[in-house]
Amino acid sequence: MKIAVYPGSFDPVTNGHLDIIERSSRIFDKVIVSILKNSSKAPMFSVEERLTLLRKVTRNLSNVEVDSFSGLLVNYLKQKEAEVIIKGLRAVSDFEYEFQMALMNNKLNPKIETLFMMTSSKYSYLSSSIVRELASLGGCLKELVPEEIIPDIHNKVRHARGGA
Ligand code: COA
Repeated sequence: MKIAVYPGSFDPVTNGHLDIIERSSRIFDKVIVSILKNSSKAPMFSVEERLTLLRKVTRNLSNVEVDSFSGLLVNYLKQKEAEVIIKGLRAVSDFEYEFQMALMNNKLNPKIETLFMMTSSKYSYLSSSIVRELASLGGCLKELVPEEIIPDIHNKVRHARGGA
């Protein structure tokens, strides 16, 4: 069974992430989308909330599992019996950092391959921080994140402002 892990922060999951999840689920027997816990980034959504959002948007993809991890990614892959890391590449600016990460992960465990998928051009400008900023300024999130989680994001912003 070919198992791949798609790691990231997913704070929140965007249509760009979902595009990569759907396409990789057609290539692998199982795709585990996994949220890094204890990231240095100050998140908008807790890990539990991000797990819920990811489960909501992937519920129709039967070979996609949603999980979280801490520590080294290569150790997590071993634990899950996976040998492939999936990453989305949006622009040349992603390349240098991703190249370094892929080489480091391969050095830590030579059995691990990183597979890069080109993010669909219509999402190449998208990032979770852009979505967070737009949401906090009251902008429209249509076509940027899956429809079913738009209310969750607006609610989060409202609560953060101390609203009902
Ligand atoms: N569509 C939209 N946005 C995308 C995207 C896509 N297809 N692909 C990436 N992004 C965005 C994310 O939304 C995120 O945006 P933000 O910074 O505005 O929030 C940004 O790209 C970075 O992606 P992120 O999901 O945060 O992942 P990352 O590249 O920072 O890496 C891990 C996260 C989990 C893969 C990495 O930190 C890791 O492996 N950590 C574990 C420790 C370890 O093993 N380190 C390696 C050896 S030392």
